[in-house]
Amino acid sequence: MAFSARHLLGIEQLSVPDIQSILDLADQYVDFNRKSHKHSDALAGLTQINMFFENSTRTQASFEIAGKRLGADVMNMAMAASSLSKGETLIDTALTLNAMNPDLLVVRHPHSGAVDLLAQKVKCAVLNAGDGRHEHPTQALLDALTIRRAKGRLHRLNVAICGDIAHSRVARSNIFLLGKMESRIRLVGPKTLMPSGIDQFGVEVYDDMAKGLKDVDVVMMLRLQKERMDGAFIPSEREYYHRWGLNAEKLALAKEDAIVMHPGPMNRGVEIDGEIADDIRRSVIQEQVEMGVAVRMAAMDLLMRNREVPSGRGVMV
Ligand code: NCD
Repeated sequence: MAFSARHLLGIEQLSVPDIQSILDLADQYVDFNRKSHKHSDALAGLTQINMFFENSTRTQASFEIAGKRLGADVMNMAMAASSLSKGETLIDTALTLNAMNPDLLVVRHPHSGAVDLLAQKVKCAVLNAGDGRHEHPTQALLDALTIRRAKGRLHRLNVAICGDIAHSRVARSNIFLLGKMESRIRLVGPKTLMPSGIDQFGVEVYDDMAKGLKDVDVVMMLRLQKERMDGAFIPSEREYYHRWGLNAEKLALAKEDAIVMHPGPMNRGVEIDGEIADDIRRSVIQEQVEMGVAVRMAAMDLLMRNREVPSGRGVMV
């Protein structure tokens, strides 16, 4: 296994062999997770703390299940309700937790860069479960695993990432990953929802769904992230659906065997037609959730293989 990092903070820092190592091990965990008995001791005796400073359903559940299936002691801290949004307080919390000797910290935070900062202050491995608009590495890895299993490869694919790109850490992590894997990325959405400096990402930009979806292999829809908008970015949800929402007519422009993805949670009738989302011939949205558990198991397993074992571990007390 090539993966040798201490933390998983973003896709930007990963090499192609790093990515392949995680995906290859995750493939094995997919089979493991389909068995009736799903328990391994890979992380037995290790403590995983999930700190979610932002609401999350699937990502937090996925990390919790992943840790438990690997035999870790998993603890969820309820952070969303507290007022821990200032840098100093975040660090204080990190130092307090650090003193309890956890082995893995899984962190989601509304501020870009907050998870990197925290990783510098603690002794254990840190996994970024999404920081502001910056990165969401396990989402990009689970998307990559889903694409690789559906298409048999990750290179030379045409992938359209559609909708609210500006506010999306999922888009950023996917742009890094698919770019490293030599797929062609199209960003499709209204100009108001494109991030500044987009020209430096090595992507093609479209403000028309009909052109952007033409002959693509993968259609990745993004949620309209209203909670990150501080002004009017779209005329109305109705108008947005009309122009940018994925329906059968727009999907017909993509390749006949194109797959439809969405990281969830979905706004049905805003960025995607509910019938398309539920159509198991096209939509791999449920597979994405399944791959999420396997990818997180693989990432945590590999990080724990790399850790420096502190002196005293294994001593009976
Ligand atoms: C994404 C996130 O939190 O960035 N969701 C997720 O992790 N399942 C995307 C989103 O919230 O739209």
